[in-house]
Amino acid sequence: MVVVEHIAALREQVRSWRAAGARIGFVPTMGSLHAGHLSLLQVARERADRVVTSIFVNPLQFGPGEDFERYPRTPEDDRRLLADAGCDLLFLPAVAEIYPDGGQSATKVSVPQLSGILCGAHRPGHFDGVATVVARLFGIVQPDVAVFGEKDYQQLAIIRRMASDLALPVEIIGAPTVRSPDGLAMSSRNLYLTPAERSVAPGLHATLRSLAARIEAGERDFAAVEQRGLRQLRESGFDPDYCEVRDAVTLDPPHEGSTAVVILAAARLGKARLIDNLRLSL
Ligand code: PAF
Repeated sequence: MVVVEHIAALREQVRSWRAAGARIGFVPTMGSLHAGHLSLLQVARERADRVVTSIFVNPLQFGPGEDFERYPRTPEDDRRLLADAGCDLLFLPAVAEIYPDGGQSATKVSVPQLSGILCGAHRPGHFDGVATVVARLFGIVQPDVAVFGEKDYQQLAIIRRMASDLALPVEIIGAPTVRSPDGLAMSSRNLYLTPAERSVAPGLHATLRSLAARIEAGERDFAAVEQRGLRQLRESGFDPDYCEVRDAVTLDPPHEGSTAVVILAAARLGKARLIDNLRLSL
């Protein structure tokens, strides 16, 4: 695995692979890698000849008082996992490489319609930070295909929309959420959980499953489903930010023509803010 810190070196390597006819896959990450990230790499390997992974904890997507400083950083483990998983190039830029002027006056990318709802309503500016860094990373790597986890359902929808609106020549692939046997979605932020909180955490997925069962049984009062979800989460020991049922494609509230919905929730447990979602056909 080639490891580079600078854009020029990355470009030179990618250019030579492309000249040899290789299709380039890309998995952007913030590191602290786990089985969920490795599954994205696997999908990228199936769809491309060479796979680039980036590790960059993007300051632009953290709000004041959020966990930028204490976000888990495990560079040695990450390198080993990526090399073992068949990553061809690891891009490890410093903040100044991505935001030469510090970022605050950089061009921003915003997908307003999708960014102010759900997690965006609770983390103002977060998705502008995500869209901006992903657009810049796409400009640097110029991948043919990029893979993102479906656990971050809203993020995936925003990146798809950005790529479509900006006519970026990259195929965006969503990869299924990887879960622990007890249902907890893999997340770097699970490291914040104490043992006691870790035993409560699967309750988030269990709540979504129980709400999905009601919808599958014919419940169409989605507001009641959401209220039940919030109640269940509080009773299990979470402090929920939201629990909402949305059209699975547009993320609007479900409407007459909706053929699939997604139940999305974010909830705090101690120092961790966990998110999860469950998509189902109507
Ligand atoms: O999902 C993440 O890890 C990040 O939001 C991403 C897509 C790497 C952008 O910083």
